[in-house]
Amino acid sequence: MPALLRLEGVTAFYGAIQALKGVDLEVNQGEIVTLIGANGAGKSTLMMTICGTPRARHGSIRYDGQDITQLATHEIMRRGLAQSPEGRRIFPRMTVHENLLMGARGHKPAEAEAAMAEVFALFPRLKERLAQRGGTLSGGEQQMLAIGRALMSRPRLLLLDEPSLGLAPLVVRQIFGAIRELNRATGLTVLLVEQNAFQALRLAHRGYVLVNGAITMAGTGADLLARPEIRAAYLEGGH
Ligand SMILES: Nc1ncnc2c1ncn2[C@@H]1O[C@H](COP(=O)(O)OP(=O)(O)OP(=O)(O)O)[C@@H](O)[C@H]1O
Ligand SMILES: [Mg+2]
Repeated sequence: MPALLRLEGVTAFYGAIQALKGVDLEVNQGEIVTLIGANGAGKSTLMMTICGTPRARHGSIRYDGQDITQLATHEIMRRGLAQSPEGRRIFPRMTVHENLLMGARGHKPAEAEAAMAEVFALFPRLKERLAQRGGTLSGGEQQMLAIGRALMSRPRLLLLDEPSLGLAPLVVRQIFGAIRELNRATGLTVLLVEQNAFQALRLAHRGYVLVNGAITMAGTGADLLARPEIRAAYLEGGH
């Protein structure tokens, strides 16, 4: 089966600074793939480059068999990608309900209702807090809202940037459990960026390690978890 997402030789720059140095990466239909790496490695840049901002300078990005490298961001998202960006970026003054509707994009009301029911099944907490303003939710609830909002567009590929950031271990387990359940029940394909390498590699089918803008290792989650150099750099004392 062809990969749902395939990056080949992708570079990206911020002015003169090169943040991605020829990245090759694949995500197959139905997989959870994680990208781990230290602060500043370029993980968020990679996610954003897939969405078209910043634009890849070299290389190609293919999604569902088509070259999306030069498409406008809204065109890329329309093809069935959704992103929950780093730092959650929910709308703090809008209610939970309004935040979710913002994620529905062009969908018809009936379809948005169905998508919302799926989000509530995954995160019942959000249903209890529909009328509450996003900014007053707890950190964990805000993360659920950010993921729920991304799911409202009914994506085929969900891009998650550091969903565990700043959350207590119990909440991290809840969020990761929800991602696993979603993938198992619906076959949703997920690309997960994480600094929490231990949890991410346990959840993911496969993983990539990004160091200084370049992929240095790839393998199954179990394979990467077992490697001494991964343990030393990303796991020991890190959780
Ligand atoms: N808008 C920007 N302008 C200039 N440089 C940037 C910009 N955004 C990111 N960078 C730089 O690009 C590099 C990669 O940053 P990026 O945010 O992708 O890293 P990251 O792996 O997501 O890190 P973290 O784990 O801290 O979120 C860093 O050196 C960063 O300073
Ligand atoms: Mg980041």
